[in-house]
Amino acid sequence: MTKLRPLPTTGALTGILEALAFFRDPSFAKRRFDRLGNVFETSMLGQQMVFIQGNKAITDLLSQPEAIEGWWPESIQQLLGSHSLANRNGIAHKARRRVVAQLFSSSALQRYSPGIIKLIDELGEELRTAKAPLPLADQMRRFAFSVIAKTVLGLEGNDQDKLFSDFEIWTKALFSIPIALPGSPFASALKARKRLLEKLQRILSQPINGKGGLDLLAGGIDEAGISFADEDLGEQLLLLLFAGYETTASALSCLMRESLLNPQIETWLREEIDTLDWPPTPNQAATVYDPTNAPRLDALVKEVMRFTPPVGGFFRRTKQPLILDGIVVPNNRVVQVALIASNRHGIGDLDIFRPQRHLENESSLRLIAFGGGERVCLGKSLAELEIRLMVVGLFRKLQLEAIPDQDFTLRQIPSPSPRDGLLVKVKMNK
Ligand code: HEM
Repeated sequence: MTKLRPLPTTGALTGILEALAFFRDPSFAKRRFDRLGNVFETSMLGQQMVFIQGNKAITDLLSQPEAIEGWWPESIQQLLGSHSLANRNGIAHKARRRVVAQLFSSSALQRYSPGIIKLIDELGEELRTAKAPLPLADQMRRFAFSVIAKTVLGLEGNDQDKLFSDFEIWTKALFSIPIALPGSPFASALKARKRLLEKLQRILSQPINGKGGLDLLAGGIDEAGISFADEDLGEQLLLLLFAGYETTASALSCLMRESLLNPQIETWLREEIDTLDWPPTPNQAATVYDPTNAPRLDALVKEVMRFTPPVGGFFRRTKQPLILDGIVVPNNRVVQVALIASNRHGIGDLDIFRPQRHLENESSLRLIAFGGGERVCLGKSLAELEIRLMVVGLFRKLQLEAIPDQDFTLRQIPSPSPRDGLLVKVKMNK
């Protein structure tokens, strides 16, 4: 039997410097893993936090659901609200997951597909007719927001625009210090949250217009003991906007950035995309560009999620002592699965962006960009559908080029995104 080891620690006490380093240094976790091993503890603003990387530690964590529960930082907890399924555990969490999951069934995705395709065609047209370069990252944010607001929740133009501006205020404070000093981003975000919830609840209290997927919720709601008028349901919808928009936009912007900066990747991908038809019928949309029919596209999406994961880390709290990769982690510790570091940890050229690796049976790589276990992302299929449709739709119509002399580096928080917005213009109409 392997000998159990005590939990290595950085020795940080207040965690002020650790928190500053975490937000400033993209290699924060890697440096400490290199020094202390795959499981270590530090302090972040007074919160003891255990960081883990590697298949063994992550599998050990996720395979013991009875010993862990969900956890998010205080700022996120407050902004999402106490009803949100992200902040719940046990039966209350499971019941709400079942309700919300109805929005992402395969028949729901089929229903959303024409709306998503329309948004992509409109974006293609906007790019084609633009008189000046457009920031593609912003366009991806608007697109990902519209998919949820318009296609899933069924909101109309004006309602959607108001929601978007409040949402931008709200998102900015998600990873801030949760003290609502007058004028601080956190105080503005709490006000925006109130307006957002009022709006979502107004929508829920009106007869469902049949445009989005909200009618799909009716089935499971009674079972969960909540009603359409409850603040509870409003908070679940707020969570969807939060969880589904910045993340998907980040994946799309990073994918576009890689293909614009690496012409050989674009050429390799285009060889496949040029053989695919656009637009697909609603019946086909969810499968026609899947890994079997579009393996290169699938490999590219996987590599983007590996190299620049939209969610850099996710959390659990231990409810009893746990052994992770041979290290004893005490009860009541917050564990962060450090995806950025973990995805590059292992043998081979993992520090290089190379989509082809996913076509080479590289089985040792465990990719969990969408999390895992009982809390795995509820919107995974929708996000994958949006990304595949966007790439095929845009590439079939246009060839884009990036404007030189812009900052292509990525800001990391809340999700990786090109600093200057990825300014592009059309090189060629297809
Ligand atoms: C590329 C896009 C996305 C990525 C990378 C992503 C990633 C994640 C991750 C890492 C988690 C935490 C999982 C865990 O704790 O094990 C999560 C949770 C969640 N995601 Fe996503 N997500 C994406 C898109 C979406 C979309 C489009 C939606 C819905 C519109 C969505 C809804 C959710 C919800 C509701 C949860 C909470 C699940 C729970 O606590 O039970 N996500 N996502």
